[in-house]
Amino acid sequence: MRSILFVCLGNICRSPTAEGLMLNHLAAAGLAHIGVDSAGIGGWHAGEPPDRRAIAAARKKGVDLTPLRARQVRKADFSDFDLIVGMDRQNIADLRRLAPAGATARVGLCLEESLGLAREVPDPYYEDERAFDDVFDLCDRAIRAFVDKLRAGG
Ligand code: 4NP
Repeated sequence: MRSILFVCLGNICRSPTAEGLMLNHLAAAGLAHIGVDSAGIGGWHAGEPPDRRAIAAARKKGVDLTPLRARQVRKADFSDFDLIVGMDRQNIADLRRLAPAGATARVGLCLEESLGLAREVPDPYYEDERAFDDVFDLCDRAIRAFVDKLRAGG
C-alpha cells in the first residue's frame, strides 16, 4: 500500500485526527514516503482547519493538527489512493455511492481495516470534550496498527 485517504463526514474532527496521527507515526517509522490525506463526504467546511476541540485533544498528546485544511472527497480520489478508509458505516455507504466507474481504491471501515474490529469511530461533533479524547484514542490505536502492517510490508 502506497497511499491512504481518511474520510469522515465533515473532515474537521475524525479524519484530520487520523491524518495527523498517521503523518506522525509514519515519520517516526521512516515511512514518510507513504501518501496520506483526509477528506469529507460534505464540503461545508472546505478550506477550514480542524475543529478547535479536535486540535485541543490532539495537542494534549503531542500531535499538531493546525496545518491541515478540510476538503471534500473528489472522484479522482478513487484512483489516486490505494486505500480509502471511512470512519463510520454511513461514510462507507456514501463512498460507495460516490465511487466513479473504474475506481481502483479499496474502501473499508477504519477500525476494521486496521484492528479487525467491526466498530465505528463515532461522530463527536455534537458531543463534549471527552468524545474528542475518545476519537483521538481510537484513531491512535488504528493508526499504530496500520503502521505496524506497513512496517511488516503490508
Ligand atoms: P467529522 O465531524 O465528520 O468527524 O469531521 C463532523 C464535522 C462537521 C459536521 C458533522 C460531523 N457538520 O455537520 O458540519
